[in-house]
Amino acid sequence: MKRVLSAGALALALGSGCGGGGDADDPVARGRAAYLANCVACHHTNPKLAGPIGPALAGSSQELLEAKVLRNQYPEGYTPKRSSSAMVPLPHLENEIPDLAAYLGSLDAPSIP
Ligand code: HEC
Repeated sequence: MKRVLSAGALALALGSGCGGGGDADDPVARGRAAYLANCVACHHTNPKLAGPIGPALAGSSQELLEAKVLRNQYPEGYTPKRSSSAMVPLPHLENEIPDLAAYLGSLDAPSIP
């Protein structure tokens, strides 16, 4: 657990620290950039925390991201963190999903969703 956390923190530090070239090869850094560009109007800049409207997203699977971000749906059998349906689908992010999954999946799920 501790090790995963510090790996995530390191990825964050690297992602913000070395701006430019190197990030392009790192799915976690690309995912973080895509997250900050597209999600933080509603979700927290720290995916482990609940945002102004949307819930915490740390630990989200690629399957969940595909369903929710592209189609505003949930994978079969998944219990949503919120019963609202306020998120707009963002289908233009299709190519970003694997990077978002790499970034969010690199973080431990929060204890308070
Ligand atoms: C317009 C505000 C808004 C934006 C922008 C937004 N979301 Fe959401 N998101 C929400 C809200 C509100 C919920 C709670 C469910 C609902 O009301 O749709 C949610 C729920 C989710 C969930 C389901 C969480 C769960 O486990 O139940 C995921 C995954 C998610 N958002 C991912 C993203 C990602 C990734 C982005 C950026 C690419 C994003 N969202 C952008 C508002 C937003």
